[in-house]
Amino acid sequence: MVHTEGSATTPADPRLQGRAVKRIAFDASTIAGRVRELGSEITGSYPDGELLVLGLLKGSFVFLADLVREIRRPLQVDFLVASSYGDATESSGVVRLVYDPETTLEDKHILLVEDIVDTGRTLTRLVELLAVRNPRSIEICALLHKHIATELRVPTRFVGFSAPNEFLVGYGLDHAENFRHLPYVASLE
Ligand code: IMP
Ligand code: MG
Repeated sequence: MVHTEGSATTPADPRLQGRAVKRIAFDASTIAGRVRELGSEITGSYPDGELLVLGLLKGSFVFLADLVREIRRPLQVDFLVASSYGDATESSGVVRLVYDPETTLEDKHILLVEDIVDTGRTLTRLVELLAVRNPRSIEICALLHKHIATELRVPTRFVGFSAPNEFLVGYGLDHAENFRHLPYVASLE
């Protein structure tokens, strides 16, 4: 099967359920190179203390798996699941932990790993929730950042790429739970 809309020689990706890629924003080798850089940046940023890498499910699972293998220091991994409730009449959403990490956060450096920062609402609330557990520090590492995060009061210390203002899928990011397994980040037609 040949995908005719883009390049006539590019076979359609069988992972896309018949949809076509509009644009590959970040291909697999570009991502791998940047993840390697982030890994050394993180390695150099935590000279001492216990480091807990906390992945926000589900979107961070691919990024986190690659990232921790590029960090050359002891660390622990855990995950959390947050659920946002947007009250129709309120502009601020309520964030609840659906799965709470079992690991203790006290006195640890916490590195929250997120796939993409959009409004930053979820992360802002999460940092507030986690801060009361007396970690030594809390920082955010996001693969992508849309830089329109007006609600993010916590700076994102480690950012992979600035994201274009398009809806992106792949490398963990989904559209209605699909396309998380693409090895690249793309926008679809
Ligand atoms: P925020 O709380 O508005 O920053 O929302 C961030 C969350 O929205 C991310 O964790 C993603 O799950 C989702 N999201 C935002 N932009 C995109 C996108 O372009 N593609 C896929 N998911 C996105
Ligand atoms: Mg999502």
